Amino acid sequence: MSPHQLPTGIALLHDPAFNKGTAFTEEERDLLGLRGLLPPRVQTAEQQVARVKHNLDSKPNDLEKYIALIGLQDRNERLFYRFLAEHLETMMPIVYTPTVGLACERYGQIFRRPRGLYVTIEDAGRVGRIVDNWQDDASVVVVTDGERILGLGDLGANGMGIPVGKLALYTACAGFDPLRCLPITLDVGTENEALLADPLYLGLKRRRTRDERYDALVEELVGALNKRWPGLLIQFEDFGNNNAFRLLERYRGRVLTFNDDIQGTAAVAVAGLVAALRLSGTSLREQRLLFFGAGEAGTGIAELFVAAAVQDGMAESDARRQCWLFDSRGLVTSARNDGTLAGHKVHFAHEHAPASTLLDAVEALRPTALIGTSTQANAFSDQVLSRMASLNQRPIVFALSNPTAKAECTAEAAVNATGGRVIFASGSPFPPLTFGGRRIEPGQGNNVYVFPGIGLGVVAARSRLVTDEMFLAAARALAAEVGDDDLAVGRVFPRLSRVREVSVRVACAVAQVAFARGLATAPPPHDLDAHVRSLLWSPAYPDYAAAPRA
Ligand code: NAI
Repeated sequence: MSPHQLPTGIALLHDPAFNKGTAFTEEERDLLGLRGLLPPRVQTAEQQVARVKHNLDSKPNDLEKYIALIGLQDRNERLFYRFLAEHLETMMPIVYTPTVGLACERYGQIFRRPRGLYVTIEDAGRVGRIVDNWQDDASVVVVTDGERILGLGDLGANGMGIPVGKLALYTACAGFDPLRCLPITLDVGTENEALLADPLYLGLKRRRTRDERYDALVEELVGALNKRWPGLLIQFEDFGNNNAFRLLERYRGRVLTFNDDIQGTAAVAVAGLVAALRLSGTSLREQRLLFFGAGEAGTGIAELFVAAAVQDGMAESDARRQCWLFDSRGLVTSARNDGTLAGHKVHFAHEHAPASTLLDAVEALRPTALIGTSTQANAFSDQVLSRMASLNQRPIVFALSNPTAKAECTAEAAVNATGGRVIFASGSPFPPLTFGGRRIEPGQGNNVYVFPGIGLGVVAARSRLVTDEMFLAAARALAAEVGDDDLAVGRVFPRLSRVREVSVRVACAVAQVAFARGLATAPPPHDLDAHVRSLLWSPAYPDYAAAPRA
């Protein structure tokens, strides 16, 4: 149980975990020393939600909405989550991509109250003490070192907006108790010149540490976290390419951890591909995937696609040959595999003539699907898109780079250039559009469909590790949640408003793998679905008068 106890009086009104604001009842006001500290009229949660909505609607832009929402989270967490749950589709782009990206860029200017833990390179040797400063218990940590925030690059300590936002989604989408969610930012410096020169920057003003002190700090942090909370889930988020792959390999076999940019993205994209096959009427083994951008997201998707194809009976080498990578130096071919090619690309470096432009690569490989994870805005030109349409009856185009301004193409461009035949998904949301009198609702390949459910699943099973098989199970569970009504409007993902139910389905699939593979340390529940649902935290206000200190 959390050491966090119900305070009274003004301290209660200032404690976001317990505060109910104007919704404290007459009885609670008497019992908890609140009489006179609040306006006289007692409001219902519904009235409070309406007030929040009214307040947000009056804000001139999304960043102001973000600031107002974070303010609410700092004052009254239950109301924040209730509001989020009721307005998930419209609020997701505010609490997460794209607005959170803007918030991170301006973190120094919009900073109000600290949230989460900061561990800096100067804290080597005292990380355990910092972890002990966190008062509450934790069941999940999201940690970033701020080096690759969305598609925005190195934002140093400003990256804190990301773990804060991701954990808000753990609560909103998979019912994690917010008191048990711990955001952490590792500040090892930054290479961002603008931040280094910015007097309002709140991080360390020094260059990134990249030597063995970096690894030692991460090791100290992981050790301290596991010592205090054995079995804690640690999600690595928005680390630079090099560290992300290394750290995943180092820790995945030792502690309960995963990297959402690599593995979560992979599960979402593979789910989208599996669902897309229902529209194209083709099978997994008929696909030829061209990845534009060969980093964490691109190669993560490729690896999971291979795992899916192998599960469907294909030989691994054949499955790998279905995936082609194109990076900043052109098509990744075996000729480039000269010892300098990054490890995550090596298994996809096939024999082929070089191609230096995307159009050349499309021409040569005739892909069925084009997947953008490059951070290069508008790289999918009309020419590329129309060539995809001449090669395929239903070309699959996923423009996954975030935020919106970095997307490889817009939904509109993809639809127009392919005569409305494209099966499109993006990383950031695009509004619905009409083509030839037909309504099209572009699906968002948002990791939020997967990572909260994965977390819920491993926590429900008390799994020792997070495995690739779990991500594949999650991908298939997510794909199964895409209904014919979704496909009818061209959406290869379920509606965002269904994400809580999707998370439960994903969690069950993941927990099943943990039980089947002997990774679970929890006793197998009689009814897994009921067990998972019993873990969900609800933002409904408790009645403190009925059980004042429960
Ligand atoms: P990364 O930095 O690991 O990889 C970027 C890749 O793009 C590198 O391979 C790089 O060589 C390549 N690239 C850069 N410029 C290029 C160019 N001009 N032509 C071809 N390739 C080029 O980054 P990561 O983690 O793979 O993320 C990439 C993007 O995907 C980001 O915008 C990120 O926000 C987005 N993303 C989207 C997700 C989603 O939609 N669910 C989830 C995770 C990431």
